Amino acid sequence: MVRLMTLVIRVDPNHPDPDSIGRAADCLRRGGLVAFPTETVYGLGAHALDREAVRRLFDAKGRPATDPLIVHVPTFDRISTLTRRVPASARALADRFWPGPLTLVLERSEDVPDEVTAGLNTVAIRIPSHPVARALLLAADVPVAAPSANLFTRPSPTRAAHVLEDLEGRIDMVLDGGDTNVGLESTVLDLAHGTPTVLRPGAITLDLLRRALPDVVYRSAQVVTEGAAMVSPGLSAKHYSPRAPLTLYEGLADRAISVLAAEARAAMATGSRVGILAPREELDAIRTRIGPAPHVEDAGSANNLPEVAQRLYAALRTLDAAGVDLILARSVSAEDGLGSAIRDRLRRAAAGRIVSC
Ligand code: TXA
Ligand code: MG
Repeated sequence: MVRLMTLVIRVDPNHPDPDSIGRAADCLRRGGLVAFPTETVYGLGAHALDREAVRRLFDAKGRPATDPLIVHVPTFDRISTLTRRVPASARALADRFWPGPLTLVLERSEDVPDEVTAGLNTVAIRIPSHPVARALLLAADVPVAAPSANLFTRPSPTRAAHVLEDLEGRIDMVLDGGDTNVGLESTVLDLAHGTPTVLRPGAITLDLLRRALPDVVYRSAQVVTEGAAMVSPGLSAKHYSPRAPLTLYEGLADRAISVLAAEARAAMATGSRVGILAPREELDAIRTRIGPAPHVEDAGSANNLPEVAQRLYAALRTLDAAGVDLILARSVSAEDGLGSAIRDRLRRAAAGRIVSC
């Protein structure tokens, strides 16, 4: 792969200057790869109708061609050329949640290249709300395929430095608009196969969706093991992972903290560098039981789930950068919709290493 000079342009997240946006938009139109902030995570954009650009995008991320991409557009009228049919449910959801962190899977039109949809007869579409993403999509005036701007299996990037960590030299440009707000990828909702089904939980929760569309169901977290047929592509077990193996301790706080602490002490006794990730309210109890030494990351307050979501991926990357050998993590227990999105991502990061306490 040819090494590129990755240009980083800082932009005001709320009022990006038109010159910078114009440069990035030109780059996209000419087939370049541009990372940009959305309200969820940073996306890596490519002209969605330019097959060559889309192939370069898969290469840059090291992503398997079997995992389809989300096409981003600035306004609802732009989705008509991408889809065969826009169901009434899509309009109802768009009215409430677009622009925003929701992706709709619809029947695709012939215009969408197979490279984007991985050969499926559906296409995933999203209208993001971040001012930089909106300005870029308007200026580019082409649909933009944008997966999260990380190397395949690494945690999604929530700031420009994360994008550079993974993709410097592999992409043309990064628009640096600071930290993203939501921190977890969009909710993916399938409207193309009968009962509307959430394929990936996110900030637009099941409860919110049901207010617009009462029959929405959640396809309970089936984590597909590697090599198995992909029921929903992109739901592979080894997604969102830090480099160090992460073990998740679920269950009542007291018991789970005891088990986690015992395993942390055992690992430290053999010379392993231990990283801990837990809600703020549990950190004192964990520190008291383990003593000094491990690298502890504050996951945010269990009473403030948007904060936990916003910090999650940065915390995983910080633990990796600290060079820990293993990560022991506690999730949030809240039944609230964002709680299930956070648990979903942590379970995937754990890739099966889940201890029920
Ligand atoms: O918040 C987000 O969605 C971010 C920002 C950049 O918009 N993008 C993102 O893209 O998370 P990516 O590629 O990392 O995740 C896209 C997810 C994958 O799980 C993929 O399998 C699923 O959407 N997807 C895409 N097209 C699909 C389709 N036609 N049917 C079912 N799932 C699809
Ligand atoms: Mg991704």
